[in-house]
Amino acid sequence: MVIMHSLVLLIATALLGAVGIQITDLRVPSVVRNNSGSAALLDCDYTLKPEELAAHSYAGLVVKWYFNSSPSPVYQWIPGQKPQDLGILKGKLDLKHRSSDHGATMYRALYIRNPTTELSGEYKCLVSTFDDEDFMTKKMVVFAPEKKLYVTWWKHDSGVVNITCIAQGVYPEPKMALYLGSKNKDSLKDVVVEVTKEHRCYDISATKVLDGTDVQATTMFVCELRIPEANYMVTRSIVYYPGISHPLSESGADDLHCRRIIVMMILLALVSLSPAVW
Ligand SMILES: *[C@@H]1O[C@H](CO)[C@@H](O)[C@H](O)[C@H]1NC(C)=O
Ligand SMILES: *[C@@H]1O[C@H](CO)[C@@H](O)[C@H](O)[C@H]1NC(C)=O
Repeated sequence: MVIMHSLVLLIATALLGAVGIQITDLRVPSVVRNNSGSAALLDCDYTLKPEELAAHSYAGLVVKWYFNSSPSPVYQWIPGQKPQDLGILKGKLDLKHRSSDHGATMYRALYIRNPTTELSGEYKCLVSTFDDEDFMTKKMVVFAPEKKLYVTWWKHDSGVVNITCIAQGVYPEPKMALYLGSKNKDSLKDVVVEVTKEHRCYDISATKVLDGTDVQATTMFVCELRIPEANYMVTRSIVYYPGISHPLSESGADDLHCRRIIVMMILLALVSLSPAVW
């Protein structure tokens, strides 16, 4: 009896699944760079019942996109009507982009003109008709590489050597490690790493204090910055000379923290506006 029941259920779901609405592919770029000037296309491919397609009656068909856990959609399209950008995507889409020439699917995709970090997250495509629905979810990470990255060292009179690496203006959360030597990288233990976050922007620093007697030869200090979610990695290195107390060349000591970048951008915007104002 139980077996019969589950068999009927199985066949029923298989049949319904085969003819009902079904998302066949959700294509979302997994990693894109912040403000790169290039668009991101998030496409939601689905099939309808053959009779619906043939009759050109997509009764009750609605395509909606959701962002993260928000209950209200960020995009909605009902065939025969104009697609709508909503919430966080308002003003950020090319609403003229067509994924196909078919009236039941043409405006199914999100064409984000220039994605920025606040659009990092889970995207859910939900396609529904009166009697059926299907959805799929995928994550897109919009990452910002560092605005500044430098590693430096100095030797105190006591003989203690302080190695410090700083990166600024990164998103999402970065990791940092320090190494000795450039070829057979020797990871330094007990490095003190500090991360600070302001808005959607991380600063990170790594500091290691060594006894000068531990590094008696000319050595390369390597700093590695990673953004794990974006598979992003970059390194900076600086040569340590045992005989002196500071690096020979400073590796860029600009002080560009997250807040200063924003202030500078406002200033730049004002400067670029000023000819019109005057
Ligand atoms: C090493 O340098 C960092 C960065 O300036 C500083 O915060 C830290 O106190 C220094 N540590 C020592 C032991 O000098
Ligand atoms: C991402 O780009 C936007 C637009 O230029 C900018 O305002 C924002 O600061 C950038 N984010 C980071 C973390 O750099």
